[in-house]
Amino acid sequence: MKIRVSCRGEITEIQQPAGARLLDYLQGAGIPVNAACGGNGTCHKCRVKVEEGFLGVTSVDQLAFREGELKNGWRLSCQSRPKTNVSVFLPGAESVRSKPRVIPLVADLSAFENEALVLACDLGSTGVVVAIAHKGGPVLLEAHLLNKQVPYGADVMTRLHFAQTKGVEPLRKVAFDTIRSCVKALRETAPKLYDRAAEGGVFCAGNSAMASFLNGWNIETLAVSPFQPALRDAGETSIDGLSAHTLPLLAGFVGGDTVAGILAIEKRGVEEPWMLVDIGTNTEVVINNGKGELWFSSAPAGPAFEGGNINQGMRAESGAISVARYDAGKKHWDFETIGGDIPRGICGSGLIDLLAESVKGGLITPDGFVEGGRLDLVGDIALLADDVREFQLAKSATRTAADLLIQRAGVKPRRIYLAGTFAQHLRLDSVAGVGLLPEGIPAEAIGNASLEGAVLYASMSVAERATFIARLEKMRRPVELALQDDFQDAFVKNLDFKII
Ligand code: FES
Repeated sequence: MKIRVSCRGEITEIQQPAGARLLDYLQGAGIPVNAACGGNGTCHKCRVKVEEGFLGVTSVDQLAFREGELKNGWRLSCQSRPKTNVSVFLPGAESVRSKPRVIPLVADLSAFENEALVLACDLGSTGVVVAIAHKGGPVLLEAHLLNKQVPYGADVMTRLHFAQTKGVEPLRKVAFDTIRSCVKALRETAPKLYDRAAEGGVFCAGNSAMASFLNGWNIETLAVSPFQPALRDAGETSIDGLSAHTLPLLAGFVGGDTVAGILAIEKRGVEEPWMLVDIGTNTEVVINNGKGELWFSSAPAGPAFEGGNINQGMRAESGAISVARYDAGKKHWDFETIGGDIPRGICGSGLIDLLAESVKGGLITPDGFVEGGRLDLVGDIALLADDVREFQLAKSATRTAADLLIQRAGVKPRRIYLAGTFAQHLRLDSVAGVGLLPEGIPAEAIGNASLEGAVLYASMSVAERATFIARLEKMRRPVELALQDDFQDAFVKNLDFKII
């Protein structure tokens, strides 16, 4: 059986025996399909349009598409099993870029050719950044690329489930591939700097799943409750002769990216007690209580903050509504989109803005009720009652983790440091408006702390790393949220929005 795929102007032909799902054939051929739910039929992102041949309409297709769309040949690739030759068009795959974006952060890179340099990587589950940095910082040159694992699932749980059935190797391979592409782009842009920086290898800060995939560790225990990684040690592997090191992990879902965040805060010399919050599909919260203890936990927020599981949600790419303001008097919305383009969807920061403004403007009640089940925004773009619910679950998980950790650590932090590029784009009054973080504590976005910390870790001597790891182990106070008696009550209470 032959499957012909037209994607981003390129044609790929796949020759395979019939029997599997179309999604499996596409992924097997390395075609980047957005399969945010991992092929469960719930995200409706893996859509294809039949151009020639036949794919039957399944009951899930009927839920995902309008009648006209079905007539025009739209199907979910995770639900379709082609039996004869078929040609399909795959849209939306443009978001999985194959070429990194290289960003110089200093005007004259050649001025650093004789300096001590390091190579560090923020191995995010969505975005990956590999950077050449001055030893101890700052970063000089960055290469950004979407993690090529994204087609295997929007969040780490979906990818872990994939790895349980199909093995870690495909995910390890694409993680290598992502880093390799970034490394190549840096080498081509600044060969002299790269050669100096790469001497010690590349130091990667990633969550526990990312570190496990990269090192090829067994993920069986990480994929099921209580989510223990096979190892918590710093890892070492090799990518085409370049040694790749991963930062140590604190726990199942508090990984090397959080350890990097701790390094980034410590470098600032801030006053304790402090709180670090890294908002994402899995939100990590850490408190240094100033008494030699590091309390930490993680909350499975899901992909809502990245626009996932939101009907018209999208990543923070051009055309995504990123800022929203509502004038209740004039009943009028003002939007800003990324790149100033025509609105195509809603990204995470836009979603937080939309909800905070809607609650403030009386369009959504404080308990999340949307009259008529939808809020029309602009053009075809609307916020649906399901989206509001999805967001409430994500924000309550985050808020509850922060609240309970404050109780367990026995202190109120002086300041909350928000790690991650997502947090940088948030309006802090909207964050307060939706009740995402505990009230009365000043919050500050500190940017990509994972990359900053990876640079700091890469800059340490072997002995310094060993001392740091031993100190972390001594301070380590994990809190398993799901096992806390008061978690459920707090979670339900925190579903409500707060009004600023
Ligand atoms: S609906 Fe097909 S991958 Fe989500």
